[in-house]
Amino acid sequence: MTEPVATAKTVAAARAEAVVRIEGLSKSFDGRLVLDDVSLEVDRGRIVSVIGQSGGGKTTLMRCVNLLERPDRGTVEVAGEVVHSGGRTVCRDLPALRRTVGMVFQKFNLFPHLTAVENIVLAQRKAGIAEAEALERAVTLLRRVGVAHRGLARPDQLSGGEQQRVAIARALALRPEVLLFDEPTSSLDPESTREVLTVMRELAADGMTMLLVTHELPFAREVSDHVVFVDGGRIVEAGRPQDVLDRPAERRTREFLAAYGSAS
Ligand SMILES: Nc1ncnc2c1ncn2[C@@H]1O[C@H](COP(=O)(O)OP(=O)(O)OP(=O)(O)O)[C@@H](O)[C@H]1O
Ligand SMILES: [Mg+2]
Repeated sequence: MTEPVATAKTVAAARAEAVVRIEGLSKSFDGRLVLDDVSLEVDRGRIVSVIGQSGGGKTTLMRCVNLLERPDRGTVEVAGEVVHSGGRTVCRDLPALRRTVGMVFQKFNLFPHLTAVENIVLAQRKAGIAEAEALERAVTLLRRVGVAHRGLARPDQLSGGEQQRVAIARALALRPEVLLFDEPTSSLDPESTREVLTVMRELAADGMTMLLVTHELPFAREVSDHVVFVDGGRIVEAGRPQDVLDRPAERRTREFLAAYGSAS
């Protein structure tokens, strides 16, 4: 058998497997470096979890993927296309980028005056999806996340877990290639946390590509292909969950996990 030869085509195909590719990313706020030379990749169908202490730069890193924050240095590539490089935004169609990269926030960010269905329809209307199609997707997705019976309720009439599941349905309605989750269960009680993690587990089983920030270490261990420990704006350690979480090589990771263990 002949060895596979790396051609421009095979190299391009391998790169296209990375739905998100970040290389050498740095970002400062008011002259203070909060992300320092960060590189990571999320391949199609994979789940990457980012863990680390408060203020370490995890949210900023996520926000750099859909350019809610603009990196000062480095390259951000989404679905095979460079969207930001060398401090310059290359992406010409930010709305399209934000459809490709769905985001779920800690605080749900639903419109309070709209019902669950209306929240999901509105996101699609803004993305140019026809009304009938948008309504059908909303109903189908509410069923998928287990809150079909709450479609006509407003956020203040929903539990935190129900609101977060509506927010997940809203993100899915735009058929993203990757979903970013920023501490999706941090403001939820244990019961609601379980409901949301169940939905995320199902998405994972369906092959959704996900980049998530989480403090749910058992969940990260269970679903992630890759765990990244961020501290002080740098990636201290990254690898398989059983390595990073159970046999960390770096002292800093061990300290974080030990402190976490005693806190929980
Ligand atoms: N828009 C901003 N302007 C100025 N400083 C900011 C801004 N956003 C974040 N920071 C600072 O950047 C650092 C990293 O913040 P970031 O929110 O990314 O951390 P984090 O790891 O997500 O923390 P947490 O676990 O508390 O959510 C913090 O010191 C924060 O105060
Ligand atoms: Mg954060």
